[in-house]
Amino acid sequence: MTNIYQPFKVKIKRIEEHSENVKLFRLVKEKGKFPKNEQGLIFNPGQFVLAGIFGYGEAPFGPASSPYQDKYLDIVVRRVGVLTEALHRAQEGDKLFLRGPYGNGFPMDFIAGKDLVMVTGGCGIPPIAAMIEYIIANRKKFGRVYLIYGARTPQDLLMKDQFKKWKKDIKVFLTVDEPDKNWSGPVGMVTELIDEIEIDATNAVAAMCGPGPMMDALEKILRPLGISDRRIFVNLERKMQCGVGHCQHCVSGDKYVCQDGPVFNFDQIDKNWD
Ligand SMILES: Cc1cc2nc3c(=O)[nH]c(=O)nc-3n(C[C@H](O)[C@H](O)[C@H](O)COP(=O)(O)OP(=O)(O)OC[C@H]3O[C@@H](n4cnc5c(N)ncnc54)[C@H](O)[C@@H]3O)c2cc1C
Ligand code: FES
Repeated sequence: MTNIYQPFKVKIKRIEEHSENVKLFRLVKEKGKFPKNEQGLIFNPGQFVLAGIFGYGEAPFGPASSPYQDKYLDIVVRRVGVLTEALHRAQEGDKLFLRGPYGNGFPMDFIAGKDLVMVTGGCGIPPIAAMIEYIIANRKKFGRVYLIYGARTPQDLLMKDQFKKWKKDIKVFLTVDEPDKNWSGPVGMVTELIDEIEIDATNAVAAMCGPGPMMDALEKILRPLGISDRRIFVNLERKMQCGVGHCQHCVSGDKYVCQDGPVFNFDQIDKNWD
């Protein structure tokens, strides 16, 4: 019988510093490649993996690399506590334990054929980045695609080296709350962004990963654009332990975020972002 808790060993191939307290870790399997599912993906965009270090526990992260890439998997980690601090002390070549992928992920088949507005803030970018990679690999299947990505300062915008590549296939809007002297883009989640977004609201979907600027985006952009709540998909973050529906650590309302989610319709959830 397969043990769903069974982790496998991965090696840190590369570490990139993306901001003062965020690092990207490129993970490779000790032997071979990451296994693909029937769609040829190593995870569905929006699913999560549990990464662990012996003696420090484990924590969920949404992979940020292309789900088609089976040679490596990238996680982007904000340093907040025990496990993430231990990860930030790790060096290239060190070993971690990984299990998953778990959860549902974004409904990519439902989103295909529609316009899409993705909204995220700060460290919510990893699952959205994986989704963008999926869309780029299947560009003709999707309508008009927009990313609105907000952060506190320009230094807090993560995955900056991907923006140029993404802009070839999708429209990218970056916003910050505290601009520096080099910043020429929007400040805050401004309603003027609506003028830049051309979608067919009757056939459009939104994807959010937060908490960041989610409520702001909802009121200033998604609702005025006419996207209904049941077409807004939210990737929720909750404290987790088992990751597979056994421990009740991740309960939100009557749902288990690890198993029923982490992606929910906006009208399905209890709107408690913390
Ligand atoms: C589905 C999912 C995907 C995630 N993806 C990412 C990701 O791509 N990158 C990333 O940096 N983080 C991500 N997170 C959050 C990440 O799992 C937590 O930051 C991590 O568990 C903290 O572990 P720790 O041992 O370092 O912190 P702890 O020592 O456990 O806690 C330190 C502090 O962080 C708070 N905290 C712990 N877990 C969470 C959480 N899940 N949400 C909010 N606050 C929390 C605690 O309340 C405490 O204040 C994700 C969480 C989920 C549920
Ligand atoms: S993390 Fe254990 S039930 Fe969800």
